[in-house]
Order: sequence, then C-alpha cells, then structure tokens
Amino acid sequence: MRIDVVSIFPDYLAPLELSLIGKAREAGLLDVRVHDLRDFTTDRHRTVDDAPYGGGAGMVMTPQPWSDALRAVAGQGPPGLRPHLLVPGPGGVRFDQAMARRLAREPWLTFACGRYEGIDERVYEHAREDLGLEVTVVSLGDYVLGGGEAAVLAIVEAVTRLVPGVLGNTGSLLEESHEDGLLEYPVYTRPSLWQGREVPGVLLSGDHQAIARWRHAQRLTRTAARRPDLLHAAQADAGLQLRLALPADVPELFTLTRACWVQEAQSNNRLDIPALTEDLEAVRASLDTTQTWVARRAGRLIGSVRTELRGDELHIGRLMVAPDLQGQGLGRLLLEHAERTAPDGIREYRLLTGAKSGSNLRRYRRAGYRPTPGEPAISGTVELVKHRRDV
Ligand SMILES: C[S@@+](CC[C@H](N)C(=O)[O-])C[C@H]1O[C@@H](n2cnc3c(N)ncnc32)[C@H](O)[C@@H]1O
Repeated sequence: MRIDVVSIFPDYLAPLELSLIGKAREAGLLDVRVHDLRDFTTDRHRTVDDAPYGGGAGMVMTPQPWSDALRAVAGQGPPGLRPHLLVPGPGGVRFDQAMARRLAREPWLTFACGRYEGIDERVYEHAREDLGLEVTVVSLGDYVLGGGEAAVLAIVEAVTRLVPGVLGNTGSLLEESHEDGLLEYPVYTRPSLWQGREVPGVLLSGDHQAIARWRHAQRLTRTAARRPDLLHAAQADAGLQLRLALPADVPELFTLTRACWVQEAQSNNRLDIPALTEDLEAVRASLDTTQTWVARRAGRLIGSVRTELRGDELHIGRLMVAPDLQGQGLGRLLLEHAERTAPDGIREYRLLTGAKSGSNLRRYRRAGYRPTPGEPAISGTVELVKHRRDV
C-alpha cells in the first residue's frame, strides 16, 4: 500500500518510521512518503494561509499550494491509478474500525493535513472534479485537534495493521475490540499473583470452552458498562456473530422468542404453542439441555436456533429471526449452521412447525425437509425430517 501525507509539519510524521509501520516499510509492504506543503508555495515567505473571507477568527489555508501539492502527488502513481484523498477534520465522517478495514483494502491513500481553521473549501471540489480523486473528510472524534497530523498518525496506524503481512499474529485481529461490535475482554499475563491480586481462576483452568464463555461474558459486561451504544447500534456493516448462548443472553432470547411466535400464533390461530407459553426460567433451563446458538449483529440479538441429540437424530428447534429482519436469509443460515453442528453418527435432522405455518413449511421444504407420516407429538404441528446426505 502506498501512503502520502502532505503537511506543513513533516517532522510531526516521524513516528511513521517506527515500530510496525517502520518494519512494514523496510519489508516493502508500505511505501510511505511525507511531503512539505510549503515546498509547493510560490512566494518568498512560503505562505500557506490567509484571512478568512467574511471575517472571523483564525486563518484559512490557501488553495494554490494544496492544488499544486495534490496534483504532484497524484501524478506520481502508475497510469490510471489515483489515490483516495483523506482530509482529517472534525466535521468529517467518523473514523471507526469498519472504515479502517475498508481503507486497508485500498492501494493508495493520500492525507491532506489541515491547520488553522482548515483548508479553503474549493480545494475539495478541485480535487474531486479536476484531479479525479475520491475525497473523504474523516473525523477522529467529536473534539478539535490543532492539526490533521495527529489524526493521520492514528488513522495510518489503525489501517496499516490490517494490511496483510504488517502484523505478525493475525489471530489477534479477530478478537479485538470493535471487530464484531463488542469491546475486548480483560487480558492478564504472568505472574498469576501480583501485589495481592490474582488472575481470574478460569484463565488458569485449561478449560477452553469455559475460558471462551468467561471472555464473552466479560466482553458483554464491559461493553454494556463503557459503551452501551455499541450493544444496540444498528450497524448493518458489522458482521454477524454466531456463538453458543450464555446465561447473559437469556432475557433477550426470551423476548425474541415471544416476538417470533406471535406470528405462529396468528397463522395457526392458537396461543398454546410451547415457545409462546414458556417463561424466562424455562428459557434459562433450556441452555443446559440443548445447544442454543445466538446470532448477534452489532450487539443486537437477531436470531437463534437450538439443537438436541436424540439417538441418531438431531432435533432442531426454536429457529427464529427478529421479525423486522425476516426474509433476508438469516433463517436459512441458522438452519444450515444447526445441521453442520451434527456430530458423526447422526442420520437425520428433525424439526416441528405449526401445521398452518405456510411460509415455514415452504422454507423447510426448500431446505430438503419432508413431513413424517403418523401423528405428531404435539397436536396442531407437523414433524419434518431430512436425511443427512454425508452418511
Ligand atoms: C483547529 S482545527 C480546525 C477546526 C475547524 N475550524 C472546524 O471547526 O471544523 C485544525 C485542523 O485540525 C484537524 N482536526 C481537528 N480536529 C480533528 C478531528 N476531530 N479529527 C480529525 N482532524 C481534526 C483538521 O485537519 C483541521 O483542519
């Protein structure tokens, strides 16, 4: 990836020679070039600013040096390739991990560091219309810095560590804060007892499942305490997280179950459907007797499915998708996931649905399920079966 930074304080960007970025530059993974905006001035005093039209405090960066600098930088690439121009500014779109991921896939980024009251607005138009650049104004957060350089250091660090090869252990990227909409769990290292403080016992237990559950519960607790906005933000961009349900999921699972089975009650014209009548305690208890999977997107619980082994059958139940998100393929994904969890020896998948749940019946038929002959275990339902192909 190539990165150009234009600034009136090129020395401010010296940290781009250190640490991971410095090593990635040496390894040829990053080509970072810093340019002094004043090299593109035409007067003896190397002036880059002037008073604002309309009055007001401070100075504004003049368009000419910016135009010459950006034209020079953009002209240095291979034919046909143009950099994406990123202009740090408190009035820009908020920089976040999702943007870092998108930018990490781009071949060439150029940063224009503003100072004073910012850059003459016509430079943005000029860059887009005359130089053919994609221009994005990016804000680091809701506060005002003295210049764009500190923002560039932060953005370049967040983006380049996602460029393949820059970071040694890419596994650590997957578990980090913000990767799936939650903050990271607390981390500990040796010694296990330090100044009277012990590392949580579960981390020393060697029980990987227990550790994963503890870490996930910590992530939820920490996110709820420090960043509750993340738990409920409807960020379609954040990926879907599918994992085994924890006790902390039970209240939302209970609510989702009620919401989803109202539709079933309407289709079947009955209110005695087990999923609709069970209470919070029953949902909590079901986590011990079934494998319950929950799907979250940006922290929100949007779907679930559970499985139970009975002999050589895998019983799939409580397949649900939040009513506002139905019809987008999540139900199919959950069903396929449930089937994939079947251990060796399972010969068929079974599930129940309401006899009058027309859309469910159609969906299950498309997924290869067929009604079983005989009386269903629960009146008003149909039992469906699908034979496992790979046995
Ligand atoms: C003093 S600020 C200018 C603030 C400008 N008058 C405004 O209110 O939007 C000078 C420069 O610092 C940088 N800057 C300040 N706050 C920033 C933030 N939150 N994110 C990114 N860059 C910022 C920008 O490059 C900006 O041009």
